[in-house]
Amino acid sequence: MRVPIIAGNWKMYKTPKETRQFIEQFQSQVKNIQHKEVIICPPFISIPAAVETLGQSMIQVGAQDAHFCNDGAYTGNISPVMLREIGVRYVIIGHSERRQEGENDEIINRKIKNVLNNGLKVIFCVGETLIQREKNATESVLQVQLMQGLQGIAVGDLSRIIIAYEPVWAIGTGKTATPSQANDVHQFIRQIIGHKYSALQSEEIRIQYGGSVKPENIQLLMKQPDIDGVLVGGASLQVDSFLKIIHYDQTE
Ligand code: 13P
Repeated sequence: MRVPIIAGNWKMYKTPKETRQFIEQFQSQVKNIQHKEVIICPPFISIPAAVETLGQSMIQVGAQDAHFCNDGAYTGNISPVMLREIGVRYVIIGHSERRQEGENDEIINRKIKNVLNNGLKVIFCVGETLIQREKNATESVLQVQLMQGLQGIAVGDLSRIIIAYEPVWAIGTGKTATPSQANDVHQFIRQIIGHKYSALQSEEIRIQYGGSVKPENIQLLMKQPDIDGVLVGGASLQVDSFLKIIHYDQTE
């Protein structure tokens, strides 16, 4: 049984004060979460506010990136060592908004390894652009992203990796992949994991969908057999819409 995993990627939204306000409103309504993981990924500067306000809550805090070194002369960067010390449990790596700024598969692979080496978990993002989809290159693009991103990663570490399939054309555009389109890609990702590792890993790995996830489409997405959760941008910024997404199974 794969435990559903719902994560909010706040991108460059919410100051520490806004983060506290959000969590104060939000927290009391997610007290009895069972058989589900919920993660909030604020901007770096707002992480301590999130951790403090959440206290002993079951909700976990993630970061949106981490460097491939633990320390060094890397102006403006943050390492997994620093993130772990302040209570971060997950790190998003390889988001398309970072790939668009020049992050390549090799850097992503080094970052994933360093996050794992520091005892944290990874949300590893992959996804094709619209042009790639129109050229029928979705599968070949994903295969390269997955094989290079996971290069040298041992089977024993795979349980600490969540894959997030985020078609670039669906991010922030209001265009969601249809649930069956997303499920087909998730099946393909499982095949790649099956080939690289084994049938057991392909069955066990959790794969999130991301790209214009909203209260209106969450139920159909989560009904798909190969969709194990969602990575939510815009709709995780309002308490109401994020709560509706988290409680997708209580409103039917
Ligand atoms: P939106 O939900 O705003 O489309 O963003 C998706 C995303 O990029 C999450 O990482």
